[in-house]
Order: sequence, then structure tokens, then C-alpha cells
Amino acid sequence: MKEQFEPNVVAFLCNWCSYAGADLAGTSRVQYQPNVNIIRVMCSGRVNPLFVINALQQGADGVLISGCHPGDCHYIEGNFYARRRFGLMKELLDYVGVDPRRFNMSWVSASEGNKWKDVVEEVVEKAKEAGPFEQFRRNKINW
Ligand code: FES
Repeated sequence: MKEQFEPNVVAFLCNWCSYAGADLAGTSRVQYQPNVNIIRVMCSGRVNPLFVINALQQGADGVLISGCHPGDCHYIEGNFYARRRFGLMKELLDYVGVDPRRFNMSWVSASEGNKWKDVVEEVVEKAKEAGPFEQFRRNKINW
């Protein structure tokens, strides 16, 4: 019997909204898939595009960046920078052959524990559809 592929998703969550939303989902005992490894950052604007590349090189099959809703950023405009930066990055990854289903952004507030669950389910489902990601693995790159 063939084992089902379980993707490894790395999620960068801003401290003030999305991390609190994920925490709320946990304290509310909302069940969601365990495929997401959360990295807390102070703001979605803090996420450097190299963090995404590094995650993909080190074993992630999908990446999620999540922050406060536009207009709610704790640092006023960090998520605006993130939205513009990662919109471009998604196109760049697509250009170099990375399936766009592997790269996701979302806005989840501290009160949206159920939305967090929905986001995780969608991101994990897309990563499953895209399959295992081997393209950027460090040992596969010929420098
Ligand atoms: Fe949450 Fe900036 S503090 S996105």
C-alpha cells in the first residue's frame, strides 16, 4: 500500500495577529492539520524573501506568510511592504519553475482562529496537490 504524501509547510506568522490567531485556534481546541511548522516574526514585513528560499532549500514543500489585515499592521505599513514584496516573489518563483501552489499569503487577525484553520487546510491541500518539492534542495543544486 502506497503511503500518502504529507507535505511539510513552513509558516511565517506575525506576532500580533496571525500568531495570536493560530494560538486562539489552539486554545479553542480547533483541530487542524499538523503539517505546518510555525515561525514567529514580529511583522510580515520582517520576512526576507531569502527566508522563503531557505525554507524551500531545507525541506519545505510549501510556504505560508501570514500577517495582520491590511490597515491593521502593528507597525503601520509592514504588511503593505510584505504584500508588494511577496506578490513579486510569487511571480519570480513561478518564472523559475516553482509551482505557485507552494507559496501562499494570508491575513489572519488575532480573533480569527477558525480562519487560521481554513488557511492551514487550504495551504496543506495545495502543497499535497503540488507534491514533494525537490527542486531547490541544497544537495540537488550544482553550484
Ligand atoms: Fe502583523 Fe505587521 S504587525 S503584519
